[in-house]
Amino acid sequence: MKAFLLLAVISFCWAQYNPNTKPGRTSIVHLFEWCWADIALECERYLAPNGFGGVQISPPNENIIITNPWRPWWERYQPISYNLCTRSGYEHEFKDMVTRCNNVGVHVYVDAVINHMCGSGAGSGNSSTCGSYFNSGTRDFPAVPYSAWDFNDGKCKTGSGGIENYHDVTQVRDCQLVSLLDLALEKDYVRSKIAEYMNNLIDIGVAGFRIDASKHMWPGDMTAILDKLKNLTEQWFAEGSRPFIYQEVIDLGEEPIKSSEYFGNGRVTEFKYGAKLGTVLRKWNGEKMAYLKNWGEGWGFMPSDRALVFVDNHDTQRGHGAGGASVLTFWDSRLYKMALGFMLAHPYGLTRVMSSYRWPRFFQNGKDVNDWIGPPSNGDGSTKAVTINADSTCGNGWVCEHRWRQIRNMAIFRNVVNGQAFSNWWDNGSNQVAFGRGNKGFIVFNNDDWALNTNLQTGLPAGTYCDVISGQKEGNSCTGIKVNVGSDGIANFQISNQAEDPFIAIHVNDKL
Ligand SMILES: *[C@@H]1O[C@H](CO)[C@@H](O)[C@H](O)[C@H]1NC(C)=O
Ligand SMILES: *[C@@H]1O[C@H](CO)[C@@H](O)[C@H](O)[C@H]1NC(C)=O
Ligand SMILES: *[C@@H]1O[C@H](CO)[C@@H](O)[C@H](O)[C@H]1NC(C)=O
Repeated sequence: MKAFLLLAVISFCWAQYNPNTKPGRTSIVHLFEWCWADIALECERYLAPNGFGGVQISPPNENIIITNPWRPWWERYQPISYNLCTRSGYEHEFKDMVTRCNNVGVHVYVDAVINHMCGSGAGSGNSSTCGSYFNSGTRDFPAVPYSAWDFNDGKCKTGSGGIENYHDVTQVRDCQLVSLLDLALEKDYVRSKIAEYMNNLIDIGVAGFRIDASKHMWPGDMTAILDKLKNLTEQWFAEGSRPFIYQEVIDLGEEPIKSSEYFGNGRVTEFKYGAKLGTVLRKWNGEKMAYLKNWGEGWGFMPSDRALVFVDNHDTQRGHGAGGASVLTFWDSRLYKMALGFMLAHPYGLTRVMSSYRWPRFFQNGKDVNDWIGPPSNGDGSTKAVTINADSTCGNGWVCEHRWRQIRNMAIFRNVVNGQAFSNWWDNGSNQVAFGRGNKGFIVFNNDDWALNTNLQTGLPAGTYCDVISGQKEGNSCTGIKVNVGSDGIANFQISNQAEDPFIAIHVNDKL
């Protein structure tokens, strides 16, 4: 009884930190800019069968249409109203997606843009994804409706009206972020309109929210909004389930605003994670994989149960946001797969896998001048369908990192080792490292410039295992490297530094 009560208290207090994924499904994937119809298909044909817990979607609410430059990805971060229509699809398609994903046990997390509306210089008219009228000059958004007194113009004290100094906390939260009209979140009216939008999504069946630009909102204003949210719908979630909340706060440790100020509201994006892991795998600044032994809080990261972690996101993969050039992306596929392998094997944080589209990257003076380019599109501006090739990769310019064998199999690895302790760490003092997760899984990396050939304690039961990086178990055979674990738990590993994927991962579900 005591244990039950304690559990009940913990699960209530911790509610907003829980992604509400099905038991044993540990990772979520960001299907950046995908259409709702394609996401519904992907839930059914790929994400559910491969054990993904959920999908983060692009903002579903009406946004401004920008034609110069042509339909950039960031137009979706400029709301016009909370109507559910965007280039990803209309309301009926959104509802169909949420229903179909939930029905196969894959939950949906909405990217909620609630700090601001469109840019202050956007002008007026009906150039929005549902055709709703707006006037940025007079701060008029009749489709919500918001008007001039719902914005922070009077509160911001900078000359430009924008954020000029990130060391001034009040500016960061009361002034315009890159000229975006800053909502007055201390007003109950504004809080109610935002909560109404989010509650509509909860009624449709979403499981939680990524809260965009959280650093630019006062944590207390966010709490007031979140307190207005309903419990999740009982059609797919246990009674009393709270929406999962993860807040975009870019805190690399150099500014006065800290991630910890937001822990009361939910989890927080740990931007140090991808920046540091990229630095280590690239061997910049004298970093080596051996130093990853105390990865996580030992590196100055936030507590694991507050962290949402990722190697790259839609901002950092194109040089926006934080982390700079060290961030690994699909463009650096060899190191990227190792980074995803490390992240998905390591117990720290709640893991999110990025799934991107290709764009014609073009660097001039160190800057990608094409960093704005939106998703693969047809001549009329509509987003191209995600086509699936015979080898299960994606076509039409979609990268689909989550379908890369190494990444998909590591997402499964994470599910298999869920709850197991970090164990049997080994390193050679350089860039050859290995670790296990209790008696369920083991992974070995060689990021040195010479071969690895060593015997290691895996912690696994004796037997022959199939490496899930070079292949996987299919029926009773293995399409990849076989690893023999002795009755003492020890196995010999050999990894060439020339290998396309210089790492090996084994787990008990791929034992032959
Ligand atoms: C612009 O949007 C408003 C509603 O927001 C509508 O009444 C009006 O007809 C629209 N105008 C055009 C030209 O579509
Ligand atoms: C959520 O569910 C809990 C437990 O059933 C209940 O006590 C609480 O009032 C509900 N909250 C809302 C906002 O409906
Ligand atoms: C790293 O590993 C290799 C092979 O396993 C070994 O020869 C080397 O001495 C190790 N240590 C360092 C510091 O390179």
